[in-house]
Amino acid sequence: MIGRTPDTIVAHRPLKDGVIADYKVTQAMLSYFIDKAGGKIRLFRPEVMVSVPAGITSTEKRAVIEATVRAGAKAAYVVKEPVLAAIGAGIPINEPSGNMIIDVGGGTSEVAIISLGGVVAWDSVRVGGDKIDRAITDYIKKKYNLAIGEQTAEEIKIKIGSALPQKEKESIEIRGRDLINGLPKTITINSNEVTEAISDRLQDIIRAVKNVLHKTPPELAADIMNKGMVLSGGGALLRNFDELITQITGVPCYVTDEPLFCVAKGTGMALENLEVYKKSIMSKK
Ligand SMILES: Nc1ncnc2c1ncn2[C@@H]1O[C@H](COP(=O)(O)OP(=O)(O)OP(=O)(O)O)[C@@H](O)[C@H]1O
Ligand SMILES: [Mg+2]
Repeated sequence: MIGRTPDTIVAHRPLKDGVIADYKVTQAMLSYFIDKAGGKIRLFRPEVMVSVPAGITSTEKRAVIEATVRAGAKAAYVVKEPVLAAIGAGIPINEPSGNMIIDVGGGTSEVAIISLGGVVAWDSVRVGGDKIDRAITDYIKKKYNLAIGEQTAEEIKIKIGSALPQKEKESIEIRGRDLINGLPKTITINSNEVTEAISDRLQDIIRAVKNVLHKTPPELAADIMNKGMVLSGGGALLRNFDELITQITGVPCYVTDEPLFCVAKGTGMALENLEVYKKSIMSKK
């Protein structure tokens, strides 16, 4: 609905940059999810696990726990997203060996080295799919004087976006509003233009990867060189992003299975094996 509503309907984005932007709407959303997962008639209030960005502040964390409890949870566990992504990617996080995960979501990108169930080094940037979309919008506005919506920008990224320039360019037709005469207009844009448009944002994410590599103790760095870095989150689906990261860092990077569902799968696995993970990964309220 975003970008398409009449005056009588308001489309909200409860979360922005990975944290709560609208408290009331977030609470309503959580309560909807809890009902949906548990059924309408419930005898007990459920325990709920929520993934949060590794760089969340304590105030933001408190707001997540409070919103979850108000939405009907008996207890709320908050776990750092890269840890859940690692579990979801099938990485044995409790072993004494270093694993590196790069999770590129909509609002944030999280990079972490995990060993013995805990985060050893990490970095988080508030750059993800949303900012990549915005970079496409800005590029088209500047180059073609054309205003496009958020959804169109995301569609361009998903259909033809690539982190590296391609020999065989792909193109698509897009529609928007001409900024000079105010009328609808159609243009064709190719994949190499998209690569150019999003390159700075991808560099922001890769800078976080480099930061974490710099902070990694030598034994763990050796493990990571051997095993490679795991790329998860919806952003992992951007064509050639793993390749670009490998080229720039010199450390092999590969995309996990079903990157979009990695964190959700990991959360399910952590909940099912609460005893195994309880000590290492979470704080509860
Ligand atoms: N094929 C694709 N190519 C590039 N990006 C994609 C593709 N499919 C989805 N995305 C992007 O992935 C993002 C959503 O990823 P994901 O579901 O991992 O984020 P999230 O977990 O909701 O966000 P966050 O982790 O920041 O809280 C969106 O920005 C979406 O545009
Ligand atoms: Mg995510």
